[in-house]
Amino acid sequence: MAELNPSIMVIFGASGDLTHIKIFPALYSLWEDDFFPDNFFIVGFARTKFDDDAFRKTIFDSLNVNCRKKPIDEDEFFNFSKHIFYLTSKYDDDSSYQKLGGFIESKAKEYNMPKNVVYYLSTPPSVYINVIDGINKAKLMSYEYKGDGFSKIVIEKPFGYDYESAKNLNGKILSVFKEEEVYRIDHYLGKETVQNILAFRFSNAIFEPIWSNKYIDHIQISALESLGTGGRAGYFDKAGIIRDMMQNHMMQLLSLVAVEPPPLFDADDLRNEKVKLLKSVRPLSLNDVKKYTVRGQYDRGVIGNKQVLSYKEEEGVPPDTLTETYVALKLFIDNYRWAGVPFYLRSGKRLKMHRTEIAIYFKKMPYSLFAKVGIENIKQNSIIITIQPNEGIAINFGAKTPGFKLNIEPVNMVFNYKSSFKLSPPDAYERLLYDIIIGDQTLFARYDDMLIAWQLITSIIKGWSKLEPPVFPNYEAGSWGPKEADDLINADGRFWNNN
Ligand code: BG6
Repeated sequence: MAELNPSIMVIFGASGDLTHIKIFPALYSLWEDDFFPDNFFIVGFARTKFDDDAFRKTIFDSLNVNCRKKPIDEDEFFNFSKHIFYLTSKYDDDSSYQKLGGFIESKAKEYNMPKNVVYYLSTPPSVYINVIDGINKAKLMSYEYKGDGFSKIVIEKPFGYDYESAKNLNGKILSVFKEEEVYRIDHYLGKETVQNILAFRFSNAIFEPIWSNKYIDHIQISALESLGTGGRAGYFDKAGIIRDMMQNHMMQLLSLVAVEPPPLFDADDLRNEKVKLLKSVRPLSLNDVKKYTVRGQYDRGVIGNKQVLSYKEEEGVPPDTLTETYVALKLFIDNYRWAGVPFYLRSGKRLKMHRTEIAIYFKKMPYSLFAKVGIENIKQNSIIITIQPNEGIAINFGAKTPGFKLNIEPVNMVFNYKSSFKLSPPDAYERLLYDIIIGDQTLFARYDDMLIAWQLITSIIKGWSKLEPPVFPNYEAGSWGPKEADDLINADGRFWNNN
């Protein structure tokens, strides 16, 4: 890969957790791998008072905890830190943006570089509008520079709170930036194994022909976490798992596993197909919400031999909260490829294990040749795509056990990322930051796929508000989730992959 363009990355909310835990570790790794030209600068913009050196020190300390290249060499960091600056600023203060404009101008002049600027919104959503207005008023967008450079805006989730608020926020962003300049981050799309879903499907003649309702019985998508809210109760209790995981990461996984092949592998063609796919997901009526959705909230329990608190007992969570920490959904995609194939999705906190996977189950053989010799119930074939941890793909099929007697047992053929490629994949943020700077939007949500996902999720949230309030807690921490989620899938004669 090539060296990146000379650019200035402005990080709004630079004193916060995301900046320290994700953004700088990714930037440092890119720098260490020699992607940065000399004229690449990062400027932090936030309220906390720091000078450049004090800010650089916070970055050094957090890299030593969060960067995959740790321990960080002090001399190397010293060279990296020369690219880092900090402006103590206020989000609603015009003069802060003028100061930022002055910084951009002076760097461009000093280094004789175009005003290529990436504005990264790593702030709480409550100040998004202030920042967009600030950039606009101070005329910090590319067209103000008369073609001298690019400007891009990067926006993190939560992108809105429901369909309406997401639409309004989108309208606001697009009143200042063009869609080609907007990068809506869904970090799942930066994961190697998520990108591999498309490679697996569309580069292998042995899989794509069987990827449809003709051969597939059902698909399960699971994002299970053993962690709780990780000290983010204030945000999480307002969002719930439906907004935190389903609207974005899970819908993206669903669209990648089910999307039609695009005419070209480029940002617009792929995103056009994703939009078509999401439009085909059958919206849930109130009756469907009752039948096809399950909510859960964890009680006390044991995780890794440690007793953990219930959700309601966690710091910052209101004791009478009705926020869900677990959701299971049954969805249908009404198109030619997927008609009749249920997609079961589940995601939750404080579960038995940390695992994200897509499990594709195939139909049974149309006729069981072996039934007459006493072999019944041969297991369905399956393909399990593990996104994390142990990234890889396993194909499960039946094989004759050795010996004179005919017996068939399930066996696994396993591809494991680490042992096959002997490389540790870049972190999702490294890939995404790289793509932002080179201007490749393939791995970013477009306004329309994001809004369609919100439409679907909002109809579920609205449906829930019309139903009896749930009786929480209803699953033990350290379990596989609520019994109702098992009932949802077991009622169809199917089972979650809890192996
Ligand atoms: C984030 C959610 O988007 O994704 C968190 O806000 C969740 O609640 C996290 O824990 C999961 O990401 P990953 O990469 O650890 O699977």
